[in-house]
Amino acid sequence: MPQLLTLSRAARLVGVTRSALQKKIRRGELSTFEGEIAITDLLRAYPDTKMHDTTMLERVERIKAEAMHTTQRDDTGLPTPQVLVARLTLISKELLSTKSELKRYLELFDTLTQKLSEAADDNSLRSTLQNWLKTEMQSNEKKDTDKAAELLAKDTVLRIIAAQVKMIPSGHEYLVEGKDSILEAALRNGLSMNYGCDNGNCGLCKARIISGEVQQIRHHDYILSEAEKQMGYKLMCCNTPLTDLVIEAAEAHSVADIPLQQIETKVKKLERLHDNLLVLHLQTPRSKTLRFLAGQSATLTLKEGNSAEYFIASCPCDGRQLEFHLDNLSDNPAFSSLKKGQMVNLEAPKGEFILQEESTRPALFLAYAHGFAPIKSLIEHGIALETVSSFHLYWIAQPGGHYQNNLCRAWADALDNFQYTPLTGDIKQSLTRVLEDYPELKDVEVYLSGPKSFVADAEAMLREHNLPETQLHVGELN
Ligand code: FES
Repeated sequence: MPQLLTLSRAARLVGVTRSALQKKIRRGELSTFEGEIAITDLLRAYPDTKMHDTTMLERVERIKAEAMHTTQRDDTGLPTPQVLVARLTLISKELLSTKSELKRYLELFDTLTQKLSEAADDNSLRSTLQNWLKTEMQSNEKKDTDKAAELLAKDTVLRIIAAQVKMIPSGHEYLVEGKDSILEAALRNGLSMNYGCDNGNCGLCKARIISGEVQQIRHHDYILSEAEKQMGYKLMCCNTPLTDLVIEAAEAHSVADIPLQQIETKVKKLERLHDNLLVLHLQTPRSKTLRFLAGQSATLTLKEGNSAEYFIASCPCDGRQLEFHLDNLSDNPAFSSLKKGQMVNLEAPKGEFILQEESTRPALFLAYAHGFAPIKSLIEHGIALETVSSFHLYWIAQPGGHYQNNLCRAWADALDNFQYTPLTGDIKQSLTRVLEDYPELKDVEVYLSGPKSFVADAEAMLREHNLPETQLHVGELN
């Protein structure tokens, strides 16, 4: 039976993203067995794997941490001592049973050798078999075996510091590292698990543990019923895995899966970029977190009654810290004079401009001016998911209008599969430039965001170039 690894573990072991592995699988360069990968196949696909090179994953982790407004976990990146002890105990038990199995096989081998020398009448057959056994024991494709053993050793260390969670019925899987709860790790990996508060109050994150063990890492006020406890329900925001887990958990797959929420938020930070553009950071109360899908929008209402709808520019991985790019402030002076600490009522999520998570096509993002807001959310979500095969962002704006240029450059610097092309000036000329780069659109997924006039021009030009209707996703600014 070959040693099989899930996609998350295999990607982590060879230091690449899951999308890089999936690309190889699609091209037939790496085979899978019921969705898992044999260590020998992994080594064949990545013969030059450097066991300690995790540069790419560290860059992705940094981007995810920034999108979540967290540091890159704590200094050690390790689980609590209790979790470490529990995992080490389990691995010691496995080691003991493997050792006793190995002992039994060695005894069998000795007996077989003995019987061969005693029993076979045919001298030539006997010596052929003995020589074959000897050679096999000595060589045994030593180089490959050494590499596989090195990979297995690394996998064992990984199993101590990170447990794997598989969600059913979706089949999504991810690693829980450090002191993360099962919920935090799901969000960090771009999965839309059901939740409401992230601190043990609402009970919305409860899920059933089908196999494996968890440990409670924080107190919760929400009380699970006796029947729920008996059935194995736990709160995902208050538990971390001790072992690999299979859980039955609710996830959002479409906009219809997330209810409309009303939350009273507070202005946490204001960044006035120029007279007509304000980057607004809102924070929800500790007991409430906004659940939404990347690319969706919210209606913001001020105490005086003024209200407007804006795209959420931040990642759904952090539903407490929400970012908005407010434009046309001259038309909306009440928003222009917002102050730090002011209360803002928020009603969300709205809209259907979301990432096509199951698509394996390269993603092309076309943003005009502050149409960058939902595109930023979509890109951060796509990076967290690690399943988008490649990103190309074209941001069209007036000179000086690429107000988060450094962020886009940082994505392009950090990720091998990310390209960023800032364009200035005339809309039609800029779109012509995009179509020169992509004359063939039948194999890309296009995300388009900007004001009405830009969207209309872009839609017409993309259709002329035979972009299939189902691959065009539009976020239009009011
Ligand atoms: S998210 Fe509210 S209890 Fe876990």
